[in-house]
Amino acid sequence: MRLDGKRAIVTGAGGGIGRALVTAFAQAGARVIGCDRTATAMADLDLAGREVFDLGGDDLVAVARRICAAHGAPDILVNNAGYSRGETLDTTTDAQIAEEIGINLTATVRLTHALLPEMATRGGGAIVFVSSVNGLAHFGNPAYSAAKAGLQAYCRAVAVEAARHGIRANAVCPGSVRTPAWDHRIAQDPGVVARTTQFYPMGRLVEPAEVAQAVLFLASPLASGITGVALPVDAGLTAGNIAFIDTVLGR
Ligand SMILES: NC(=O)c1ccc[n+]([C@@H]2O[C@H](COP(=O)([O-])OP(=O)(O)OC[C@H]3O[C@@H](n4cnc5c(N)ncnc54)[C@H](O)[C@@H]3O)[C@@H](O)[C@H]2O)c1
Repeated sequence: MRLDGKRAIVTGAGGGIGRALVTAFAQAGARVIGCDRTATAMADLDLAGREVFDLGGDDLVAVARRICAAHGAPDILVNNAGYSRGETLDTTTDAQIAEEIGINLTATVRLTHALLPEMATRGGGAIVFVSSVNGLAHFGNPAYSAAKAGLQAYCRAVAVEAARHGIRANAVCPGSVRTPAWDHRIAQDPGVVARTTQFYPMGRLVEPAEVAQAVLFLASPLASGITGVALPVDAGLTAGNIAFIDTVLGR
C-alpha cells in the first residue's frame, strides 16, 4: 500500500484516529497535510504541512482555495474530523443538532465539494470519509447518526458523479474506538467502555490503527476498483447481535 509522493489531506489530524491516520499515511510514503481546529492539537505531529481551521465556522471555500494554493490539489482527502455530544433523543438540544449536523455533515460536504474540482483538474484522486456504525444502524447520538448517514449518501454521490474525473470515494464505519472522543463519557461514568465492549463479537473495541489501515487501503491503488462503499471496521458489531444471542439463550 505505497503512496510515495502523494499529497494526503487528513482532517481532525490531532485526534485519536487522526494521529493513527497521519502515522499510517506517512509510513506509506505520503506527504500528509494535517488539518485541525487548533495548531496545538497538531503540534507534536510530523507533517508535511498543517492547516488550522474550524469546520464549525470558517469559510470552507476559502480554506480549500488556501490549501490548494499552499500545497497543490490533494491526491487523497481523508474527511476524519467529527464531533458528538447529544446522546439520546430526549437529551439532545437544538444547539447540539445544529452543531453536530453542521460539523459532521454540512462542513465536511462543503470542504469536499470545494476540493473536488481541484482534484478533477489535477487528474483524479481518492476520498475517504470516516463515517460511523451510527450511519448504518442506531446506537445513540441521533443528530450525529443522521449526519454520518448523510455523509454516506454524499460519498455515493461523489463516487457516481466524479468517477468520470478519476475520483474514487469510499467510507469507513468504525465501531467504538477508545479515543479522546470518549473522555467526557468516561469522566462521567468510568465503566462505560467495559459495558460497551460486551456488544462487540470480537470481545474488544477497534484500535485507531485498525481504522487507519482500512482508510489507507481504500485510498491506495490496491482499492483501484472500489468506489461508493461503506466499510464497517467494527469488530463485528453490525454483523449481528451477540448480546441478543447471549441474553436469549442465557449463555
Ligand atoms: N471514537 C469512536 O468511537 C468513533 C466511532 C465511530 C466513528 N468515529 C469517527 O472517527 C472520527 C475521528 O474521531 P476520534 O475518535 O479520533 O475523535 P477525537 O475527538 O479524538 O478527534 C476528532 C478530531 O476532530 C477535530 N475536530 C472536531 N471538531 C472540529 C471542528 N469544528 N473543526 C476542525 N476540527 C475539528 C478535533 O479537534 C479532533 O482532532 C470522527 O469523524 C468520529 O465521528 C469515532
